[in-house]
Amino acid sequence: MVITGASSGIGRAAAREFAGRGDRLVLAARCPATLAQVRDECRAAGAAVLAVPVDVTTPGAVAELADAAVAEFGDIDVWVHTAAVMAYGRFDELPAPVFEQVVRTDLLAAAEVARVALRRFRAVSAGTLILTGSVLGHITAPYMSGYAAAKWGLQGLARTLQQEARETPGVRICLINPGSVDTPIYRQAANYLGRVGRPPPPIATARRAARAIVHCADHPRREVSIGRLNVVMRFGFTVLPGLYDVLVGPLMRLAGLSNQPVASHDGTVFAPNPDGEAVRGGWLPGLPQLVRAVSGATATAGSAVLRRLR
Ligand SMILES: NC(=O)c1ccc[n+]([C@@H]2O[C@H](COP(=O)([O-])OP(=O)(O)OC[C@H]3O[C@@H](n4cnc5c(N)ncnc54)[C@H](OP(=O)(O)O)[C@@H]3O)[C@@H](O)[C@H]2O)c1
Repeated sequence: MVITGASSGIGRAAAREFAGRGDRLVLAARCPATLAQVRDECRAAGAAVLAVPVDVTTPGAVAELADAAVAEFGDIDVWVHTAAVMAYGRFDELPAPVFEQVVRTDLLAAAEVARVALRRFRAVSAGTLILTGSVLGHITAPYMSGYAAAKWGLQGLARTLQQEARETPGVRICLINPGSVDTPIYRQAANYLGRVGRPPPPIATARRAARAIVHCADHPRREVSIGRLNVVMRFGFTVLPGLYDVLVGPLMRLAGLSNQPVASHDGTVFAPNPDGEAVRGGWLPGLPQLVRAVSGATATAGSAVLRRLR
């Protein structure tokens, strides 16, 4: 299994899931230090792992990664591509190089991964490519123009590749389309909006998305949607575009942006930020917070009942 984007969020959660099954893994992302950490986690879980620091937007880098994978393990059965960056800002206020690097990373590098992987898969009539799109490949929201443009492009690319793959039995292409997932991508994003972005509810865990990826590796499917509201949003966007466009701006400002102010910055668009990399983004409460919240609520309710009884 090759995983590009393995150092954080969904890709890192997928690496853990595959490692738990003892799969042989080639992990790639830009930051060598975080990648080494993920490699050690996966080895501890029982997997044989090769970590290869790679910027997927560097010409020739993806082909070199494939060569390294084949040299280490003999062949590539599954390639999971989750690497992506994001940028918030009105289109006319976003610096052009930021917009272009988002498209380069999220669309053109995914195309390069597909090109390298499919050439190898076709030669042996076997292999599964799992690309990661987004619900924003079917709908749009303000302030995410580069990301939405790239994910719409990826949607078109994936469908085309699926049609072409009908001529190559044994080669499968899957597209995973998450809605909101609790990963660091929202804080890692470039921001020219003044407010930190956040995932609008309902929010899935990175583990849930990772399990969908693992399931696709074993049972390839054309498209997998993760998120209970994805269908509703797609319906509104397609069937009621006028109403959708009236509502999406206010809803985005309410649910898709936090009140936390932030100075303009390029996030991880051009370079990684190891301090921000993790499986979880902290948008969902973890077990300790849940226990604290439940015990706090129980204590408050208990003392209210006692006061009434007295
Ligand atoms: N989280 C969500 O709510 C959500 C929703 C819909 C779709 N998605 C999609 O799910 C996928 C995973 O996102 P995530 O939320 O898990 O994001 P994340 O936590 O920010 O992880 C992104 C990964 O991509 C790597 N990466 C970024 N640029 C790269 C480059 N140029 N070369 C190589 N690796 C690069 C990052 O590592 P380095 O920075 O070290 O390179 C990191 O490992 C993306 O395709 C995203 O669009 C996420």
